[in-house]
Amino acid sequence: MTASPVALITGAAARIGAATATLLHENGYRIIIHYNNSVENANALANSLNNKREDSARILEANLMDSKAVSALADRSIAAWGQLDLLVNNASAFYPTPLETITEEQWQELFASNAMAPLLLARSTSDMLRQQQGCIINISDTHVRRGLKNHSIYIMAKSALEGMTRTMARDLAPEVRVNAIAPGAILWAENGNDLSHEMKAAIIDGISLKRMGEPLDIANAVLFLAGNASYITGQVLHVDGGR
Ligand SMILES: NC(=O)c1ccc[n+]([C@@H]2O[C@H](COP(=O)([O-])OP(=O)(O)OC[C@H]3O[C@@H](n4cnc5c(N)ncnc54)[C@H](OP(=O)(O)O)[C@@H]3O)[C@@H](O)[C@H]2O)c1
Repeated sequence: MTASPVALITGAAARIGAATATLLHENGYRIIIHYNNSVENANALANSLNNKREDSARILEANLMDSKAVSALADRSIAAWGQLDLLVNNASAFYPTPLETITEEQWQELFASNAMAPLLLARSTSDMLRQQQGCIINISDTHVRRGLKNHSIYIMAKSALEGMTRTMARDLAPEVRVNAIAPGAILWAENGNDLSHEMKAAIIDGISLKRMGEPLDIANAVLFLAGNASYITGQVLHVDGGR
């Protein structure tokens, strides 16, 4: 019997990352739940997955702004079960950076989780992923194609992530497929940059399907790209309701 595949999902304690972890787990994956601050959520998710299947989920902490911690995260992920089949780069810092007040610290923070850590994790896991004929899936943002007002650094970092997707699809071929998913409006941001009711209504009005997506929509796309997409690499799949 072949061992069940192992997925490392960054920022997996809550929201889209947790939905992705849960769906992959339902489909037979063992899950490494990476978190930074959300230790309680990470533990609760791991406990619920382990209650369904013994020793099928572990948690690993790392601040993705610390490149040593990122390397250690890759090493500890591989060491967990001696195997890694899927890397989902989902963790992301997100906040506005109006041009007049941009700082170098914002650049460092937004690029760390959205671009640098995915690159370092890909580097540190590439041998194992090649051996397992695995996958990398990078979670981008549908706004990369058209820009997002007051978010230039975030969009630049996600653009770098999409560039990495296309380049790494070549670098790691033919063993490893590398794709990205570009979500549209799935969950409103939690970091206090709350939009007014009118602004939310205007966003939804601009979506062809006239509604928000759900975390499960992104999780389903991850499951598809990781599993039944054996001739797809270097692509960015927009899951945005036709925004
Ligand atoms: N939500 C949407 O509608 C939407 C739209 C477009 C694109 N996306 C993309 O989809 C992905 C998931 O979205 P989301 O809204 O679920 O994400 P989120 O809740 O905003 O962030 C996911 C996790 O990223 C982790 N993170 C942030 N900075 C970190 C750092 N320096 N080190 C380690 N972890 C860090 C946090 O972990 P801790 O909580 O453990 O600290 C956080 O829980 C992101 O890549 C996002 O850009 C989302």
